[in-house]
Amino acid sequence: MNKEEAQIQINQLVKELNDHNYRYYVLAEPVVSDFEFDMLLEKLTTLEKEYPEFLLPDSPSQRVGGTVTSEFASARHTYPMLSLSNTYSEGELREFDDRVRKLLDAKYEYICELKFDGLSISLTYENGLLTRALTRGDGERGDDVTTNIKTIRSIPLRLVGSGYPELFEVRGEIILPRPGFEKMNLDRIEIGENPFANPRNAAAGSLKLQDSAEVARRPLDGYMYYTLGETLSFKTHSESLEALASWGFKISDKTALCGSIDEVIGFINKMARERDKLTFDIDGIVIKVNSLEQQQALGFTAKSPRWAIAYKYKAEQVTTQLLSIDYQVGRTGVVTPVANLKPVQLAGTVVKRASLHNADIMAKLDVRIGDFVFVEKGGEIIPKIIGVDLGKRDLFAEPVVFIETCPECGTKLERQEGEAGNFCPNEDHCPPQIKGKLEHFIHRKAMNIDSLGEGKIEILYDNKLVKDIADLYSLTYDSILNLEKVFKGNDGAKDKKLSFKEKTAENIINGINTSKSAPFERVLFAIGIRYVGETVARKLALHFKNIDAIIAASNEELQVAENIGEKVAGSIFTFFRKPENLVLIEKLKSAGLNMVADKQPDLLSSNLAGKSIVVSGSFGSSKRRKELEEMVAMHGAKLAGSVTSKTDFVVAGENMGPEKHQKALKLGIPVISEDEFLEMLK
Ligand code: IVH
Repeated sequence: MNKEEAQIQINQLVKELNDHNYRYYVLAEPVVSDFEFDMLLEKLTTLEKEYPEFLLPDSPSQRVGGTVTSEFASARHTYPMLSLSNTYSEGELREFDDRVRKLLDAKYEYICELKFDGLSISLTYENGLLTRALTRGDGERGDDVTTNIKTIRSIPLRLVGSGYPELFEVRGEIILPRPGFEKMNLDRIEIGENPFANPRNAAAGSLKLQDSAEVARRPLDGYMYYTLGETLSFKTHSESLEALASWGFKISDKTALCGSIDEVIGFINKMARERDKLTFDIDGIVIKVNSLEQQQALGFTAKSPRWAIAYKYKAEQVTTQLLSIDYQVGRTGVVTPVANLKPVQLAGTVVKRASLHNADIMAKLDVRIGDFVFVEKGGEIIPKIIGVDLGKRDLFAEPVVFIETCPECGTKLERQEGEAGNFCPNEDHCPPQIKGKLEHFIHRKAMNIDSLGEGKIEILYDNKLVKDIADLYSLTYDSILNLEKVFKGNDGAKDKKLSFKEKTAENIINGINTSKSAPFERVLFAIGIRYVGETVARKLALHFKNIDAIIAASNEELQVAENIGEKVAGSIFTFFRKPENLVLIEKLKSAGLNMVADKQPDLLSSNLAGKSIVVSGSFGSSKRRKELEEMVAMHGAKLAGSVTSKTDFVVAGENMGPEKHQKALKLGIPVISEDEFLEMLK
């Protein structure tokens, strides 16, 4: 294939893939299989690697992310992002309608929309291309999260259809649908990270991640609901929504045109009944005057439009009786009190259990067995007890005393200074904690033994084949073949039987063997030392180079490594003072795991020390570009993927990305040639 042919192919593939993407993520009507899609994408990325000069700004390869932003640049909104006035009451809604009627003195219609419970975003499109995405911020200025937003598949990188203005803004909400949220939380729990309380928090956390490749893995979605620009010619809001849909945006079909406030209230009540069936959270209904001319006539107050109001749903609440309290020991040893309730219907599901969080909250609520308690399901997935109906309390009800010993292993519970919960200190022998360590060890980000997920660890543990992580490496095909267990289905779900047939057993053993080649920093993370997450593990590996040096390091020496404070150093130091942990390390060593870091290249000079540099465009060949990128690191600088106010300069080749160029100009960041760059290294 020659250069020209490559360019034609790239252009075609980008178009085709963007179309498939739109059909899958916006219309939910895919026409090719995931496999076909992946094949096409692979073809495109291979071509793009070979011909980086033909990389298009709307290429779907950007959806996988890859740029790391150390700090998001802040930028002023072209139009401030206002909020809506809120109400929880039908009366106030009618007052809103009275005001609209008086001010307009003409016939008017409302359009009702879902109030998406996520984060608002403002997207700028220039000549059909997404050029900027800003968060709301304080309404005047927001954070530039363009690279992260580009990973969200339902946000068009290039618009389809016709008739869109040269320059305009679209506003909408970034949300995390519930199924994706639940899966994400399970993954987090598995690696000992705190789960997000609700999809909104999870979406907010995801959008602010520095690594866009990680954002790409979060199942974010975006619904649009507002258009702004100097050259828009719509007559009504509903017309603008239709236009947005025709240009490729995701628009909810749960809207209603209403001729009166009674109809509006009808829609609010209908959606209150149906909201549990949606795959994402809403916290109310937004009511907007449909005619844009009338919107203009009504205008704005300092904070919000007079032509719109948000009706917010109250968190649903019921009362039911507290039957008993169970105590659950988590994977990290934390003991959580869980209330068993008389089953009660709440927000579309039957609630039988609710979290009491920890000893402090339980004591504050002063719940007693037999009490009638108020249970609420707000944005959170797990219902919570928010109070006691004291009027109904039995005269002889006794205060509940939090258990003193671990219900799993009998060890006396402890409380850590500054923490609200009680925990079982027997981390090496308490069954759920051992299973927790094993699950952490096999996790994707640790040793990545995916053939051992979903309950398989439990089978090995129950059969006494593994008591610690090192035991995994003594397993043999014969020792695990035909092991099985029936997992009881919770809350009426069917029981599930899991057994290690030939293929499963083989996969498990293969997975364990493959994990032996995981690099040292992953092994260090996988061991499960408290407070040693992925980043700390990497820093330790980089600084100390091998396990023996870490074991030998004093508390103070540990703190010399970048990013390691007193608390983390203390935890590492204590871990390696325990003889059983040293035995464990020896076992892992003899199993053949990597206990030494890969050699880091020595720096050629520190000419560029502390600088943040972007390399953009083509330099004759992709190999040359790679070389230049490597030089950045070899001379002490950091290679950045996008231009921000933190960038020191950009090394530009031919056809430097237009977005980067513009950004550099705007921020006054020097753009230098390859020769000028080489000069700096001398
Ligand atoms: S319209 C000028 N429509 O609610 C007002 N907002 O308190 C433009 N929101 O910041 C906003 N769903 O984040 C609008 N269908 C919807 C919405 C919606 C959710 C959020 C948005 C806004 C907040 C207003």
